[in-house]
Amino acid sequence: MNVHETEKLYALFELSGIAQAENAENADIIIFNTCCVREGAETRVIGNLGIVKKLKEKKPSLIVAVCGCMTQQKAVAEKLHKRCPFINIITGTYKLSKLPHMVNLIANGEKFIMDLETDLTVPCGINEAKRSDNVNNFVNIMYGCNNFCTYCIVPYVKGRERSRRKNDIVEEVRTLIGKGCKEITLLGQNVNSYNDGNYNFRDLLDELSDLDGEFWIKFMTSHPKDLSNDVIDLIAKKEKLADYIHLPLQSGSDRILALMNRKYDIAAYMEKIDRIKEKMPDAGITSDIIVGFPTETEKDFILTEEAVQKVGYNNLFTFIYSKRTGTPAAVMEGQVPEETKKERIARLIALQAEIANKKAKECIGKTYRVLCDSKSDKLLTGKTASDRVIIFEGKEALYNKFVDVKVTQVKNSKLYGEAVN
Ligand code: 5AD
Ligand code: SF4
Repeated sequence: MNVHETEKLYALFELSGIAQAENAENADIIIFNTCCVREGAETRVIGNLGIVKKLKEKKPSLIVAVCGCMTQQKAVAEKLHKRCPFINIITGTYKLSKLPHMVNLIANGEKFIMDLETDLTVPCGINEAKRSDNVNNFVNIMYGCNNFCTYCIVPYVKGRERSRRKNDIVEEVRTLIGKGCKEITLLGQNVNSYNDGNYNFRDLLDELSDLDGEFWIKFMTSHPKDLSNDVIDLIAKKEKLADYIHLPLQSGSDRILALMNRKYDIAAYMEKIDRIKEKMPDAGITSDIIVGFPTETEKDFILTEEAVQKVGYNNLFTFIYSKRTGTPAAVMEGQVPEETKKERIARLIALQAEIANKKAKECIGKTYRVLCDSKSDKLLTGKTASDRVIIFEGKEALYNKFVDVKVTQVKNSKLYGEAVN
């Protein structure tokens, strides 16, 4: 999300005649597009601001702006202003499109601007984006979230769900494919609840997968309560819809899922997984897990381990529960000690490494169609429709092409292979 938002900022600034600098030392403007989903992201911003402070001391005309989710929180924005008075602009998630204007005001003598107003009349922010290549391109289909999982800050800083008009999305995708883009990733906090009137996410996938050209479509993120069988069946049927689903489980304990306000239980989640596996036996399934949610016991955690084992994810994104001020979970009793969280996440990472290694070995001897998405010194990498990475030898000319690659060996869970066409 943030990577793509930054691509939009580049496009916006270019329209105002401001070009991208090669590095921070050469820049006249430095913008931090922040994330606040976990404490680690916020800490990184503070650390990086320390470096920028030194740059600004050397070059007082440097304009520093901080925008995004972190500074959409009023208390955080005010604290940041006090702590780092050298920042010229502090704004949130709603006013990104106004940034060039704000920069202009500062360049013309204003000292400081803080604008945290919410502005839902701009339902979908900025439509232009400056992408560095056309291998994998992100396309926003919706913004915001209505789910209010009790640990999550997103609904408070990104606002309620707003879907983009379907014609705008179809046109953007058609244009990208026309420019040679081979992989489109549709973005939304909860893509399954996309709608434009009666036109829903399944309709959108159906229409996009009928466009001419050689490409495939991926999307994230799906909420297990909203991923419909219709969507699963359509992905299985249509070749241009990649067989890859990121389906965050968060916890394997029904008690914790209820406390998290996830609105599904493990049985319902496994039903979805079974359907995906039945319709797409080689699908890539990945997930997010939070360890150490308030009151999580060893028993709850073992249920998570069991669920992870049962699904057999291709990849897992594991997070230590991070207290976010303003969310219900932050004030729940039974916060789990840091040590316990660390011990649990280490166990989960080790378990997933074992699973990934076993799954990787099952790929040996199989041939996959991959999209070659990076090149360096004879070794290319490509991604399969199921989002597995394969490293293979080949010519640079294969970059941004679909190639059939046979997996020949596995080293440290990584797949290596050779191009067969
Ligand atoms: N603490 C830890 N992880 C979190 N996530 C969201 N909020 C928190 C939090 N407070 C994780 C969830 C989500 C992913 C994007 O970030 O697993 O799916
Ligand atoms: Fe956060 Fe839950 Fe919305 Fe995802 S679905 S953004 S975890 S509130």
